[in-house]
Amino acid sequence: MQTMSELDLCATSSESFLRFPEDFLWGVSTAGHQVEGNNCNQWSDWEQAGRIKSGDSCGRACDWWENAERDFDIARDLGLKALRLSLEWSRIEPEENCFDPQALQRYRQMLEGLHQRGIEPIICLHHFTHPRWFEKRGAFLRPDAPRLFERFAREAARAVGALCRFWVTFNEPNVYAACGYVLGEFPPGRKGELLNALRVNSMQARAHVLAYRAIHELLPDTRVGWAQHYVVFEPARGIMNRWVASLLDRLFNHVFFELIEDGQLAFPFSLLNGQVSDAKGCCDFVGLNVYSRFHVALDLRHASTLFTRLFVPRHVPQGDRGVENPYGEAYPQAITRAVKRAARLGKPIYIMENGVPDAADRIRPWLIVNVLRELHGLIECGHDIRGYLHWTLTDNFEWNEGWRLRFGLVALDPETQQRTLRNSAKLFSDIIRGNGLAAPMPDEDALLSKAMP
Ligand code: BGC
Repeated sequence: MQTMSELDLCATSSESFLRFPEDFLWGVSTAGHQVEGNNCNQWSDWEQAGRIKSGDSCGRACDWWENAERDFDIARDLGLKALRLSLEWSRIEPEENCFDPQALQRYRQMLEGLHQRGIEPIICLHHFTHPRWFEKRGAFLRPDAPRLFERFAREAARAVGALCRFWVTFNEPNVYAACGYVLGEFPPGRKGELLNALRVNSMQARAHVLAYRAIHELLPDTRVGWAQHYVVFEPARGIMNRWVASLLDRLFNHVFFELIEDGQLAFPFSLLNGQVSDAKGCCDFVGLNVYSRFHVALDLRHASTLFTRLFVPRHVPQGDRGVENPYGEAYPQAITRAVKRAARLGKPIYIMENGVPDAADRIRPWLIVNVLRELHGLIECGHDIRGYLHWTLTDNFEWNEGWRLRFGLVALDPETQQRTLRNSAKLFSDIIRGNGLAAPMPDEDALLSKAMP
């Protein structure tokens, strides 16, 4: 079942232990809305409108607004070195141009709490959510959106900047635009608006540039980047399937890269006014969020998804299914493709998210081990990969899927807030403490057989 990795061609290590670089940043990623509880943003409205497919509500989530420190203790006990969290713009600027000092104080307290536990915080400024007033004004389709985002970024950097060296401006601009404007799965729930999705991405690139400059002006030594989601689109057999798969790949995986790499979209999308010349080279690192492979076939019934159908063959490793669709194939080699794409920008790379929905922890250990092997091989090949953040620490509110998909190293009962460590937490912790993993692992065959459906 194991496919030959592209890396087998260049991996040179013959050691039986795959050691990572000394200062490698091992950690986890989280997002404000998914963990804090009781937020008031455009996602709370989406939930109130009954748009969460599982019918769940976010409620207290992981209760971080009241007590993030409970999970910080777990993170410390696991030996994590970094934790990425996002600042809820809707808490910090609940009304336009009115900033809430108490919210900023709570974030300061959280960041201090991480430092006290020896954990490096990484801040993300936009992880899918923003204030209601911003959504009502048209969000990133409004010409003044980059300025509004810059003002928020500046305020946040002023208030908490001394406590954080790494800033992510946007989490997954491609997912935000595709789900909100093409698939209708995220607010504002628009379908088939491909041109608007591209416009949103170029506005976000402008906002990224302004925020990048504002943060550097206030905090010259910080490192600022963004987190790009990368999916492998594998064509079914046939030339038409190959063509649509490469179109999806281009639109989903490459648009934001092109904006930051060249300051504009490549032809023919360059004709759509995607010019953001200031964005060229504007990042100190590239963050990669990598999860899945999807197979792609042309299907004339699906106009809103560019006449494509995404599917997951039955006999491939995969985690739990979503309410309507499979989450995708768990495909460790996706990391290699993503890193090779990101490397073209010539900046350090951090894996900012990687994981699998897996309540029973059946496949997660296999995924972690195999992804880290890919990463180790890439580092040996000379790629500048500085860290790996797993998604996620504690099960959290998974957007449209509610509580149905469980990505945590730690299982959560949202009712009682009780936490239970999954085996993967122990595995990841051992890897961090040893700064590497054995190759192969002693129970390799068992891991693979559990990963299969
Ligand atoms: C998002 C997370 C999400 C995870 C799992 C990523 O694309 O950044 O917010 O929970 O995927 O679906």
